[in-house]
Amino acid sequence: MKTVMIGNTRISVLSGDITTWKGDVIVNAANSGLLGGNGVDGAIHRAGGPEIMEQCKEIRKLQGGCPPGHAVITGAGNLDVKHVIHTVGPIWEGGGRGEALTLADCYRSSLQLAIEVGARTIAFPNISTGIYGYPKSPACDVALKAVSEFLQVEPLDHRIEQIDFVCFEMDNVKLYMRWLERFE
Ligand code: APR
Repeated sequence: MKTVMIGNTRISVLSGDITTWKGDVIVNAANSGLLGGNGVDGAIHRAGGPEIMEQCKEIRKLQGGCPPGHAVITGAGNLDVKHVIHTVGPIWEGGGRGEALTLADCYRSSLQLAIEVGARTIAFPNISTGIYGYPKSPACDVALKAVSEFLQVEPLDHRIEQIDFVCFEMDNVKLYMRWLERFE
């Protein structure tokens, strides 16, 4: 585990399965249909149980899904957190279709929603870097830049004490650790 402070917020990189993380909010790398899938999405729905899917279906009825870069929030079923924020990353199409902007929006809109529900701790997976094919190194740059800029621009506007990046793959653990060294 590696930890740095940005303003009053601790940023950590952890290796592991986000479904076993304990805190206020975990973020899911969902798809626009919000009906589950494989990867971290499948793991969260399996571990959390049917309650999360029922709430996703309600959101679909109300707003017809969730566009890329946006985020929606549900309860967390059996998970040891209060909420799951479902955000939809971009599908990698070579980088010329605004993928970086959309991916940054995922992190910003998730943080914004977490703030709205008063969260103090939040965990992110490495959005888009699995099935959606976003290359890991540029995705790490986008994620950490979006989060650190968000915290620097809005330093007093939130009560977020801890942001954990929970990496399932060792490649990502190494990339995130290297990136955070610049804040030491
Ligand atoms: N905990 C943390 N990270 C995980 C877990 C887990 N249990 N399982 C997978 N991951 C990691 C992957 O290693 C990858 O780095 O999450 C990252 C994102 O991968 P995906 O889950 O494939 O998500 P994404 O690339 O954003 O693709 C989204 O996949 O499952 C579907 O419904 C989802 O269609 C959507 C698409």
